[in-house]
Amino acid sequence: MKTVFVLNGPNLNLLGTREPAVYGAQTLADVEKLCADVCARHGFALRFHQSNHEGALVDWIHEAGRLHAAGQLAGAVINAGAYTHTSIALHDAVKGTGITLIELHISNVHAREAFRHHSYMAAAARAVMCGFGVAGYGLAIDGLAQMQPSAISA
Ligand code: DQA
Repeated sequence: MKTVFVLNGPNLNLLGTREPAVYGAQTLADVEKLCADVCARHGFALRFHQSNHEGALVDWIHEAGRLHAAGQLAGAVINAGAYTHTSIALHDAVKGTGITLIELHISNVHAREAFRHHSYMAAAARAVMCGFGVAGYGLAIDGLAQMQPSAISA
């Protein structure tokens, strides 16, 4: 069974109360449940984490990289929050491990402030998703399932 990592960066622990007009009313626990259900549907194991600390996210990407090297990783969905727009370290961690990355944002960052338009993650990502609300997490896992060598192409 392959594993999907879903990593969440700073302030995503506040989902449900943080700017609900932008990020919706669902909590991070709701998002974890959604991811668990979608992973179960695809036969993936789930590792779901959140941290407000950049280094913790780097460490989890390295952990995902070890599974990738062993052929046991389906990929990673990462909502790096504001680190998306600032972190060369997260970019380097993804490049350095070779994991399949889906960059994810709950909101449509391109319809927001200019400082959210640049992403250090995008150049290291297989795909980038934004603006689907928290439903995007499930859609991103569906996308990883489609990318598996075993997937039947439509
Ligand atoms: C976010 C968008 C980022 O610009 C912001 O810093 C976040 C959340 C999103 O999910 O829409 O923390 O990644």
